[in-house]
Amino acid sequence: MKKHIVMLPGDGIGPEVMDSAKMVLNTIAEEFSHSFTFESQDIGGIAIDRQGTPLPAETSAACKKADAVLLGAVGGPKWDSNPSHLRPERGLLGIRKELGLFANLRPIKGFEKLLHASPLKEEVVKGSDLLIVRELTGGLYFGTPSERRDNGQSAVDTLFYSRAEIERIVDKAFQCAKQRRGQLTSVDKANVLESSKLWREVVEEKRQQYPDVAVEHVLVDAAAMKLITNPSQFDVIVTENMFGDILSDEASVLTGSLGMLPSASLREDGFGLYEPVHGSAPDIAGKGTANPVAMILSAAMMLRHSFGLNEEANVIEETVESILNGGFHTADIKAAGGQKVGTKEMTQKIIDSIKTRNAAN
Ligand code: NAD
Ligand code: IPM
Ligand code: MN
Repeated sequence: MKKHIVMLPGDGIGPEVMDSAKMVLNTIAEEFSHSFTFESQDIGGIAIDRQGTPLPAETSAACKKADAVLLGAVGGPKWDSNPSHLRPERGLLGIRKELGLFANLRPIKGFEKLLHASPLKEEVVKGSDLLIVRELTGGLYFGTPSERRDNGQSAVDTLFYSRAEIERIVDKAFQCAKQRRGQLTSVDKANVLESSKLWREVVEEKRQQYPDVAVEHVLVDAAAMKLITNPSQFDVIVTENMFGDILSDEASVLTGSLGMLPSASLREDGFGLYEPVHGSAPDIAGKGTANPVAMILSAAMMLRHSFGLNEEANVIEETVESILNGGFHTADIKAAGGQKVGTKEMTQKIIDSIKTRNAAN
């Protein structure tokens, strides 16, 4: 299979973990006789520095022509006091919107041997395996216009959702639930927000089309509590943009680190951009200690969702799991025992293991 992949490494640890994903994909290409070509483009802070804008036209054009896009992370202290239109994060929001990537799938599953690495009790984390379906191109992030008033002394952001925007994400979540354990939790703030009331109405209508999916509604504050007191009660969670952003970082503690969570940002026709849940981690950038697992697992999601390469995706996921279960992990994982390794060693372990495994088969 021949595929052209646009890489947007971005800032901070973005380029470090992107290197890891590229090496793993090259190994998969060799082992399974595929041809993956890569093209790197600027986004975020580096794009501001080099081209004066967080989302250059050339970057958008390259993404639109690609078979799939991989994104590292954007942002950092260097650009934190820039005006809004010159923030790295604008580049990320811009590309999601331009490409129509409304569905962000964030799977969260702890690895057996690392359950004790979570700050939560092992018996709480055990058995948790959930998927957060986050709406990605609406809500507070895109309400118009965000602005300052009263000479800058007041500010407004708008939480807007149309019925059509809610319908397509809820539909996606029902489909995911149907393929998993048939349980959907819709998270909202319907006791206060009008947009949440509409959200609930849409979920109630949609459930008629999916009689074999069990549906519950949970308010976001309670959901935040339940996620870390009894996470195994959840299968698929569907929620609006900002609730999903916050709940997914919270859910990362189930796995022991934010550096473990991959995601897929998908369009209606299946086109996708794949990005770890974590950010540019300025505190560890350049140190060679970043956890590449979230980015590598995002590449595996690309193989599965965009290219239909299920076996290859499984190989990456199973190999990552075997290396972690074998005791190797980066410094962000607070596991007892095992061996602490850097980004490059972790990546090499995964690559060697993929090669050995294939040679044995
Ligand atoms: P962050 O996710 O970058 O880091 C939070 C903490 O987790 C840090 O202590 C960091 O070292 C650690 N961490 C994150 N990923 C890790 C990894 N792969 N390996 C090891 N440790 C890891 O969040 P933040 O510090 O709040 O934000 C930093 C910058 O990143 C900000 O500019 C923010 O806007 C941006 N950001 C970007 C994205 C993205 O590009 N998708 C996502 C979140 C935050
Ligand atoms: C994420 C990030 C982004 C978001 C930021 C950097 C704009 O936190 O992908 O989770 O809020 O969507
Ligand atoms: Mn986030």
